[in-house]
Amino acid sequence: MSISLNTDFLKGHVSDADIQAFAPMVEKAHKDLHHKTGAGNDFVGWVDLPSRTPDALITELTALAKEVQAHSEAIISIGIGGSYLGIRSTLEFLGGEPRLPVYYAGHNMSSVDMSRIIRLIETTNVTVVVISKSGTTTEPALAFRLVDAAMKQKYNGAELKKRIICVTDAKKGALRQIVDKEGYRSYMIPDDVGGRFSILTPVGLVPLALAGVDIRAFVDGFRAGEKEYANADLSKNICYRYAAIRNVLYKQGKCIEMMASFYPNVQYVTEWWKQLYGESEGKGGKGIFPASTILSTDLHSMGQLMQDGMRNIFETFVMINTVAANVIVPVQAEDTDKFNCVAGKELDWVNKQAYKATADAHFEGGVPNMCITLDKADAFHIGQLYYFFEKGVGISGYVLGVNPFDQPGVEAYKKKMFVLLGKK
Ligand code: PA5
Repeated sequence: MSISLNTDFLKGHVSDADIQAFAPMVEKAHKDLHHKTGAGNDFVGWVDLPSRTPDALITELTALAKEVQAHSEAIISIGIGGSYLGIRSTLEFLGGEPRLPVYYAGHNMSSVDMSRIIRLIETTNVTVVVISKSGTTTEPALAFRLVDAAMKQKYNGAELKKRIICVTDAKKGALRQIVDKEGYRSYMIPDDVGGRFSILTPVGLVPLALAGVDIRAFVDGFRAGEKEYANADLSKNICYRYAAIRNVLYKQGKCIEMMASFYPNVQYVTEWWKQLYGESEGKGGKGIFPASTILSTDLHSMGQLMQDGMRNIFETFVMINTVAANVIVPVQAEDTDKFNCVAGKELDWVNKQAYKATADAHFEGGVPNMCITLDKADAFHIGQLYYFFEKGVGISGYVLGVNPFDQPGVEAYKKKMFVLLGKK
């Protein structure tokens, strides 16, 4: 069980000496994270959250999942940003059929999507999980207003209460007030863990448990990450190397990081990562722009730009060693398409050759790239990968000289929107 980082295709762009030059800054960032002495230190509770997550919570949520699975056919998960992306990312990454399908609401204001959710409530036995740390975010607040009304049309009393679960702050926010007034069940998001770092809190654990994910393995993956990426020495910590390499490349003008995977189940992992890195580092006129592609699909749309466009990009591939299912390419007597050369081979082998060819070609085209490889696409590995990226952005953000744990910029549009909405 492991995650590795291959840096062969950084040659000529990033040397060991370049990386080592960042060692003092990385060590300082490490100390600031672990001793809570850096900017935004009120929000670094995620650093040791894996080892602080009580087994009792896992047991409690496993029992909750059993109960909900017995009376529901689907879950409606309401939330946006850090209260949405990690849930979707985990479920899509794991693939297969969840014990209960999860439908998402509150991550947009599409009336078409919302009318589908209301129809789902009318026709199906559902449980709703509404997630908002602040409890005041526009999209999930409006979605919950609509969903709550639809639920009340269908259920009442104890039946209603057993079907609505709120995940929010312990004391503050409108959602906490709703819990107190309506008597809905609730789980608490710790004060010291910000939205985009909250997948290991009840934000992720509640819906994932209900969907049937092995949350014990998920937590174990995080715990493995906490141990593995705790060494302040860059040369012994691939997470810190990743953070340092990003900063070396950024200084060379590589201001876009393209996360690319040859595995479509990684698509929402890249969406989660984009929020984590974009919201943590994009401030004060600084920051690497996080972008993503799914290959080989996007090689047929973005391939030209990647190979030959403006050379301000570096690439981080995410690969998976052993896939959950495989198929063998059949022989074709006429060999009309001339692909008998791969007949008898697994399709995933072909996919991996496509990765090797792409990494090499992009490198030759002036796009330095590195590759993070996971042994398997299971709950353990995604937990460890999330921790890798969380720690990576904590270090990288401090090295860049920003507070990685706030997001003052996201308020600007809200102020203008509230004026338009007439919100007090
Ligand atoms: O990282 C963040 O803080 C944000 O993206 C939030 O997760 C997002 O805005 C949702 O916030 P809340 O959970 O308070 O509704």
